Amino acid sequence: MRRSRMSPPACLQSTPHATACSVRSDRRSPGFAPKNVLDFGAGPSSALWAMRAVWPKSIERVNLIEPSKEMQRAGQTLLDNLKGLPLIHSYDSIQELNRSIEKHERRHDLVISSYALGEIPSLNDRITIVRQLWDLTRDVLVLLEPGTPQGSKIISQMRSYILWMEKRKCRKSGKSTAAAPSKMKSMVLQEDLLKDGAFVVAPCPHDGRCPLENSDKYCHFVQRLERTSSQRIYKRSKGVPLRGFEDEKFCYVALRRGKRPEEAWPLDGMKFDTLKERHAKRNPEDLIIDYDDQFPSEEDEEAPGSDEDSLVPYASDTQELSLFHESGEEEEEPIRADLGGGWGRIIYSPIRRGRQVQMDVCRATKRDASEGAFERVVVTQSKNPALHLQARKSLWGDLWPF
Ligand SMILES: C[S@@+](CC[C@H](N)C(=O)[O-])C[C@H]1O[C@@H](n2cnc3c(N)ncnc32)[C@H](O)[C@@H]1O
Repeated sequence: MRRSRMSPPACLQSTPHATACSVRSDRRSPGFAPKNVLDFGAGPSSALWAMRAVWPKSIERVNLIEPSKEMQRAGQTLLDNLKGLPLIHSYDSIQELNRSIEKHERRHDLVISSYALGEIPSLNDRITIVRQLWDLTRDVLVLLEPGTPQGSKIISQMRSYILWMEKRKCRKSGKSTAAAPSKMKSMVLQEDLLKDGAFVVAPCPHDGRCPLENSDKYCHFVQRLERTSSQRIYKRSKGVPLRGFEDEKFCYVALRRGKRPEEAWPLDGMKFDTLKERHAKRNPEDLIIDYDDQFPSEEDEEAPGSDEDSLVPYASDTQELSLFHESGEEEEEPIRADLGGGWGRIIYSPIRRGRQVQMDVCRATKRDASEGAFERVVVTQSKNPALHLQARKSLWGDLWPF
């Protein structure tokens, strides 16, 4: 359930890297190891560095789309003298790529657009580009934008568009399959399974409407980046030395072609003992007085953000957190399992208060993951000691089983 907040090496601590890790480790994309990759709006090929770190062995060919010659040159300079690179080709535009490569080579295992859609001025143009990128995707499409309300809106709109388009295609192809001669039907269906349909690999545990749409919150995540010494010199303000890191906010979505896997996830259907039930099951000789249980420990009293490596709060986080706090002490809901769609995603920093952990979790509310909700989950030590321990260790962006 945990991911590291600051992982070496420094040059690879990027939001594409965090996103690629999220795709690699997700149960909705088991064994995913892309061979050929397309990076739209590649800039100095930042995503290439991230992908080489996450999938060092699998990547054979990378196509970059970048209209700026300066950016292309910067990217080439960074790669100079490196050994073991995949085959890399640069194109000025999607049109140029389509003209230059054969139709059967156009589908890429992984297509990524990082911090580029925000530079496309109109919604219609953005939709056109995302549709073209989806056409160039054989398996997974990853869209990343800055972690701002605008970035989140772009990601949410593009996510809805692809899911809607694929749903419509499935309905249409379902109708034409029904009309096909029965011998051909199974062949057509198998073909369709490969081509039609889309589902969200991450961060959403469902393919329904984003529950944060039209709310005062927006879905985003944070990745700690190390600042290089030159960044610290250039960004220094009023002679005050900067911290050695910054927390980059980002929004993303990873969509995969096909049908959402339906296998059960770990802990599906599992029932947890309350602390009372647990004690009742103990052997008498195991009953030793646990003084730690009687008094709150220093750790239990820990305020949010007092961790050594805790994230630096932002103004918008403060607002989110105060909204979070406003509702005060909450009764813990009964534990629900078997939600479908896999585990939920923790959005924003969990709050630890005494022996209680409060988390905002986005999760599927239907078994087929066609709908989701953003809900407050409260885990207390007395009602669920096992989950409480996990909740205490959980971070913003982690998965949560219930
Ligand atoms: C903010 S940079 C992001 C660079 C890189 N993807 C990253 O994450 O570091 C945006 C890039 O998108 C490129 N871009 C802008 N409009 C574009 C378009 N219509 N087609 C392709 N790339 C475009 C810009 O030249 C720029 O390099």
